[in-house]
Amino acid sequence: MEKFIIEGGHTLTGTINISGAKNSAVALIPAAVLCDEEVKISNIPNISDIDALIEILIYLGAEVKKEKDSLTINSRNIKNKEIPENISKKLRASYYFMGVLLGKYSKVDMFFPGGCNIGSRPINLHLNSFKTLGAQVNEKNNQYSISADQLIGTTIYLDIASVGATINTIFAAVKAKGMTIIENAAKEPEIVNVVTFLNNMGAKITGAGTSEIRIVGVDYLHKCYTEVIPDRIEAGTYLIAAAMIGKNVRLQNVIPEHLEALVLKLKEAGVKIFTGEDYYLVSTSENLKPINIKTMVFPGFATDLQQPISSFLTQCEGKSLIEETIYENRFQNLEYLKQMGADIKIKDRKAYIKGKTELVGMEVEATDLRAGACLILAALIAKGTTTIKNIEHILRGYENIKEKLEILGAKITIE
Ligand code: EPU
Repeated sequence: MEKFIIEGGHTLTGTINISGAKNSAVALIPAAVLCDEEVKISNIPNISDIDALIEILIYLGAEVKKEKDSLTINSRNIKNKEIPENISKKLRASYYFMGVLLGKYSKVDMFFPGGCNIGSRPINLHLNSFKTLGAQVNEKNNQYSISADQLIGTTIYLDIASVGATINTIFAAVKAKGMTIIENAAKEPEIVNVVTFLNNMGAKITGAGTSEIRIVGVDYLHKCYTEVIPDRIEAGTYLIAAAMIGKNVRLQNVIPEHLEALVLKLKEAGVKIFTGEDYYLVSTSENLKPINIKTMVFPGFATDLQQPISSFLTQCEGKSLIEETIYENRFQNLEYLKQMGADIKIKDRKAYIKGKTELVGMEVEATDLRAGACLILAALIAKGTTTIKNIEHILRGYENIKEKLEILGAKITIE
C-alpha cells in the first residue's frame, strides 16, 4: 500500500499539461475490439485503469503495442473467451467488453465490473439494451452469459442518461442489423470521442452529444486512428487546486467548453480565471464567497468534480451546499475533511460546508479516486503534513499527479 506525504502551505505556480481523458480512453480501448483491422489511439493517459484494460486485451489474444502515449491494437485474432472475475473487477470500464464482444461475436461471458465504491452502480440499463437488441442475458452470482442469434436494431429509451449504458448500447448496435435509436442518451464529451472513433472505422452513427443517437449497423470496420480528448476532470481538479493555493497557474491542453459549469461556479465564488483557446490561467484568489453545487449530467456540474471542490468550499467565507444527485455514497471524503478541521454537516445527499476553516494535516485514506483528489487538495492547503493512504485509487485516474503538482511547487513524497 503506497502513501502520499504532503507538506501543506506551498503556493502553486507554473504551467502543466492536461493528459488524455481516463473516461474516454477506457471506452476507446475496448472499442478497438470491434475493428476488423488495426487501430491506433494516441494521447492515452499513463494510469493503472489503462493497464488493466490492456491486460484484458492481451488475455483475449489481441496484439497490443505501446509506444509513448499511443497504443496500436489489432484484435483480428481475438478468442472470445470468458473474462475472469479477477480481471473484470479491477475497474468499472471492464463492462465495455460486454458491449464490444456481444456486438462483434453475438456472445459474451464475463463478470460484474469493479470500480470505485461510490454507490450501488447497477448495470441493469446496459443489460436492458442488450435484451432489447435481441440478446438473452443469464446471470448467476455476478457471472453473465449474454448471447444472441442476431442483434437487431430497434429504439431504446434509457431510464437514466447513463454514460456507460449509452456507450455499451452503441457498441452492441454498431454491427447489428438495421437501425438502433437511443433516446435519452448521455451527452458527455467522452461519448462524442468514442463515436468519432467508431465513425472513423466506418460505423454510421449520428447524434453523439445530443440525447438522441442513431446507429445504422455495418458489417465491417476498418483501420483508423484517433486521439483521446483532454481529461476535463483532471483539468477541473487542477483548476480547483489553483483556485485554492495558486498564483498564475497555467493549465494547457484543455477544451474549455467541457468545463463551463465548474469555471462559472469558481468565478461565482470569486476566483479569477482567464480562459484561452486551449488553456486556463488562474491568478491568486482572495475573499472567496460560498456557492451551491448540484451534480448533474453533462453539461451540468460533473459528479466527478464534486468531491474535489469540497476542499475548496472549506476556504469560502460562509455556508456552501453540495447536492449529489448521481451517486448515493459519494461523501466519504467529507469525514476526513471534518477530522482535518472542516465544519461540515451531511443530511441525505446534501452536504453543508461552513467556512472559512483552517485545515490541519493528519493521516487520511483515499476511499475512492475522487475522494483521493479531494484529500490531496486539502493537504496542499493544510497546516503541517498530511499522509494519504491507499493512493492506488488515485493512481487509477490521475497521470503523474505527484510530478505535476511538484512542477507547480508542491512538496510531496511517496512512501
Ligand atoms: N445507473 C443505473 N443503471 C445502469 C447504469 C447506471 O442505475 O445500468 C445509474 C448509476 O447507478 C448512477 C447513474 O446511473 O447513479 C450514472 O451512472 P453512469 O452509468 O452514467 O456512470 P458510469 O458510466 O458507470 C461514468 C464514469 C464515472 C462518472 C459517471 C458520470 C467511466 C468508467 N466512469 O460512470 O466516472 O462519474 O460516468 O459522469 O466512464 C470517475 O471517473 O471517478 C467516475 C466514477
